[in-house]
Amino acid sequence: MKYAFFDAKPYDIPSFEKYGREKGIEFKFFETKLNHDTYSLATDCDGVCVFVNDTVDAFVIDKLYEMGIRAVALRCAGYNNVDVRHAFGKLHIFHVPAYSPYAVAEHAMALLLTSIRRIHKAYIRTKDFNFSLSGLTGFDLHGKTVGIVGTGRIGRVFADICKGFGMNILAYDKFPSEDSGLNYVSLGELFEQSDIISLHCPLTEETRHMIDADAIGKMKKGVVIINTSRGALIDAEALLAGIKSRKVGAACLDVYEEESDIFFEDFSGHIMDDDTLARLISMPNVIVTSHQAFLTEEALNNIAETTVGNILEFSEKGYCENELCYRCGKTESCKAARKKCF
Ligand code: NAI
Repeated sequence: MKYAFFDAKPYDIPSFEKYGREKGIEFKFFETKLNHDTYSLATDCDGVCVFVNDTVDAFVIDKLYEMGIRAVALRCAGYNNVDVRHAFGKLHIFHVPAYSPYAVAEHAMALLLTSIRRIHKAYIRTKDFNFSLSGLTGFDLHGKTVGIVGTGRIGRVFADICKGFGMNILAYDKFPSEDSGLNYVSLGELFEQSDIISLHCPLTEETRHMIDADAIGKMKKGVVIINTSRGALIDAEALLAGIKSRKVGAACLDVYEEESDIFFEDFSGHIMDDDTLARLISMPNVIVTSHQAFLTEEALNNIAETTVGNILEFSEKGYCENELCYRCGKTESCKAARKKCF
């Protein structure tokens, strides 16, 4: 069995080679992303294996289908880059619903601590033997209110971490969980009352630009915004305006709305065309990491093992527990009815 593996990076090839070899799956690794120009690289393959910034839109889906491909194995949780609706009846799309939620939640806290304790500034200073403390005053997290949007796997781990710091936690979720013990409030209340806001919900049409100028207008002055979920949850222009007006105290971004042609690549010798990103990065109170929250050894192994498991299950049964289904949605009843549904 052969899968074309797009957007291959040195850090994910070893785990996929290992698990693939064990289960008789050959991955053909391509550095390029899957898009309108590159889909034909998957010729003669049984499926494609893609990541967050590959394009699986209607055009690519139709082309893959014409080529006889029936499976798209996402090696990530989020699937906003896939037209699941268009794929229905053509391609089976499966993802990795859970892999070390600790990786992402711990990265969110790492960004927060770096930002508010000015570690990014201090590191550069001491590298230059500058031991001055001017401008490095931070604030305690203990006693502060953190608003967590999305209380699924990652949001709940982040809540546990925040509890350890003695923070007050407010939560918002479209589908609140009764057994979480979290204090759910409306999104508006969360915006109004939080010192720190961390996003852990998926990107959907409903959540796109959830943080826009209106939302920022409701927030406390000096609010710290953390986004390790998906870039387009935040209107980047509105965030920039909020930072320039001093309303937003700091932003910690592992994702960015227009990241797909930028993140994961080395542009250090180039002119940055994206003015909004360049301006955000130039701010002393903005920290940007390049969608690296998932990047721990544990998560990489989880991802490879689950993706290979998904591919095997699909080849044996013709469907897969971790499949995304447009008709039923991603629910338990959907999973039970998967074969009939597709
Ligand atoms: P999950 O599915 O366990 O939790 C998502 C939560 O968001 C659920 O509780 C759901 O009810 C809630 N939700 C859905 N629609 C909502 C809405 N309109 N408003 C508020 N809440 C809503 O997902 P998980 O594993 O916790 O991942 C969360 C997100 O983290 C993913 O969607 C993905 O975008 C992102 N992610 C980022 C990574 C990175 O490397 N930066 C790695 C892995 C995931």
